[in-house]
Amino acid sequence: MNYSKNYSAMDREALMQQVQMRMSEKRFKHVLGVEEMAILLAEKYGVSTEKASIAALTHDYAKERSDEEFLLEIERQNYPDQAMLKKFGNAIWHGLVGADFVERELKVHDVDILEAIRLHTTGAANMTDLAKIIYLADYIEPGRDFPGVEEARRIALMDLDQAVAFETKHTLSHLIENENPVYPKTLETYNRFVAGQK
Ligand SMILES: [Fe+2]
Ligand SMILES: [Fe+2]
Repeated sequence: MNYSKNYSAMDREALMQQVQMRMSEKRFKHVLGVEEMAILLAEKYGVSTEKASIAALTHDYAKERSDEEFLLEIERQNYPDQAMLKKFGNAIWHGLVGADFVERELKVHDVDILEAIRLHTTGAANMTDLAKIIYLADYIEPGRDFPGVEEARRIALMDLDQAVAFETKHTLSHLIENENPVYPKTLETYNRFVAGQK
């Protein structure tokens, strides 16, 4: 990728180091895979590759924080639907609430990037192309291996919305199959992208 004045190769290196310190080697490898895929999709769909890189590198930054830390943050920020949010766990918190840690500790203030981090596991009815790209890249990065991943990759290179639909349908089916709770935003994504509600 080409680096601009605002985001140099050195900035990227520094960010990578801060992220790496906060996670296992395996997760860090995943993060680099997400970055690779996010940049590829950003180039294809005319989205800023810098924003794609920063959002990808930081999307799982908070994933290894304790539940206590997340619960404190939820109270501190006075989140809407606080009582409901507290019933969920790390799978939802690390994105939705994790963006707060990215902003405060890594000094990332770009609203598009923070929104993409927030929505990377649930999606939303309204998503920017950057948010769609991070949502997809997390699912189809080169290290992912599950039945259907090849098809998800193929669709992602053809049409962002169709790929969001494919991922959401499969994620929701998986949650239901395992009798896991479903965060309302995931249903919102389903209604918009799979069921075609406007
Ligand atoms: Fe994540
Ligand atoms: Fe991830």
